[in-house]
Amino acid sequence: METTPWTSGRATRSPFVLPGGLRGRLAGRLMLRMNKQDEIADLLDIHAGEHVLEVGYGPGGLIRCLARTPAGRVCGVDPSPEMRDMALKQGTNADLRLGTAENTGFADAEFDCVVSVNTVGLWPSLEAGLDELHRVTRPGGRVVIAWHGGRRPSRVTRHLTLPDDQLERVQDEMRGRFSAVTRRELSELTAFTAHRP
Ligand SMILES: C[S@@+](CC[C@H](N)C(=O)[O-])C[C@H]1O[C@@H](n2cnc3c(N)ncnc32)[C@H](O)[C@@H]1O
Repeated sequence: METTPWTSGRATRSPFVLPGGLRGRLAGRLMLRMNKQDEIADLLDIHAGEHVLEVGYGPGGLIRCLARTPAGRVCGVDPSPEMRDMALKQGTNADLRLGTAENTGFADAEFDCVVSVNTVGLWPSLEAGLDELHRVTRPGGRVVIAWHGGRRPSRVTRHLTLPDDQLERVQDEMRGRFSAVTRRELSELTAFTAHRP
């Protein structure tokens, strides 16, 4: 599988970008071990009965955390069948589908909360992805987009941080669609939170 992220403009077959086959499953195991999701789960502050969508769930680290929240419904999309198989093994009854940030396949305003971790820099189009996240979030609902970085990025993920101009572009494009866009530095992630007006 090949894709061209907006951040590089170059086609890639990296198993960390679109995990497929054995290399993809090995990359998934590493992601499960390396990518800390607890802080994001806390930041989401899921209330009882809320409907939550994760875009790009990968091997399912955050899906596992979301299963411990009082969410009424946890859904996810990821383009990789291998990641779907791994995420389904996280022992949850989440509704995990194949799909992308640009085309989730869910209905308008279906979710109270939409989250995406370590995927925004891989989307082929930042604008198309944000349009779709806006579409599936209910008015008043919230969106959280996070990427490698934060106050103490690990040695492994340090080289994956995005340059300031690209982080600013994420924030500007979010401001064009959402209200109260705020940037936060978590321990290993830079997170943008916003609300759909
Ligand atoms: C680096 S992994 C991150 C996985 C997980 N969110 C984490 O933090 O461990 C990137 C994931 O994004 C998915 N992905 C790639 N392109 C995508 C797109 N256009 N929309 C949504 N997800 C995408 C990949 O299949 C992969 O599972």
